[in-house]
Amino acid sequence: MLAALGPELARPVNMRSDDSLPEETVIGKIFEKSEHIHKLRHYLPIYERFLPGAERMLEIGVDRGGSLQMWREFLPDTTIVGLDINPNSAQFDDPDRRVHVRIGDQTDTSFLSGVVDEFGPFDVILDDGGHTPNQMISSFQFLFPRLKPGGVYLVEDVCANYWMGYRDRPDSFIDFTKVLMDAMHAPYMALRSPFDFMEGHPKRVDHVQVPFAATIIDSIQVFDSVVVVHRSKEPKTLPRTVYR
Ligand SMILES: C[S@@+](CC[C@H](N)C(=O)[O-])C[C@H]1O[C@@H](n2cnc3c(N)ncnc32)[C@H](O)[C@@H]1O
Repeated sequence: MLAALGPELARPVNMRSDDSLPEETVIGKIFEKSEHIHKLRHYLPIYERFLPGAERMLEIGVDRGGSLQMWREFLPDTTIVGLDINPNSAQFDDPDRRVHVRIGDQTDTSFLSGVVDEFGPFDVILDDGGHTPNQMISSFQFLFPRLKPGGVYLVEDVCANYWMGYRDRPDSFIDFTKVLMDAMHAPYMALRSPFDFMEGHPKRVDHVQVPFAATIIDSIQVFDSVVVVHRSKEPKTLPRTVYR
């Protein structure tokens, strides 16, 4: 990494800890009074940006129930669904408040399929589960194609992949994010020159074969420890270039 950064960007500097209180926000106020929760503080603006307006939200990883309570208050109109492998989390199932909990493994596609059939399609999916690359990647592979068009998929705590205790395969979720970035650009691997996708040009191609992912990944954002993948509202069509 350091060699690729070059000498100026790789220059060692100290990064300090900081206990000052963040700016007061709606979710920040809810977070301050929340108990039994485990989130990094800098995730709050990310939630504030992408979660409002969701009809149905799925969180992988319920644990002690604190985040479900936070979502309930922050997103009063949203149906909140949590899943966890730990049967203790079932106590937070509260259908009267439209908070639902199902117990199962985030890598078990028949379990996930049942959750999607029962409560989906979700317009927000937040993976705060086991945090190993295999768990994150296999849940994403199954759930992203089932996310509501226009929806958003957040994978939290990708920082954990840098710790060997959370590494159950050679590649990390960050490596997988690069795969998603390549998949988003798959049309350009099939197109040979700008004329192939130039409006009005005689060489313009009618179609190319791409992986399904290329038609549904609208954009990918990488924040510190959170990867956000946006699903396009409509299946994407080939890019068009204009030269005049
Ligand atoms: C970080 S905690 C969730 C914290 C909670 N979202 C919060 O903010 O308070 C992670 C949870 O993922 C669950 N988990 C671990 N492996 C899992 C798996 N394979 N499938 C589903 N849940 C899993 C753990 O039982 C644990 O409760």
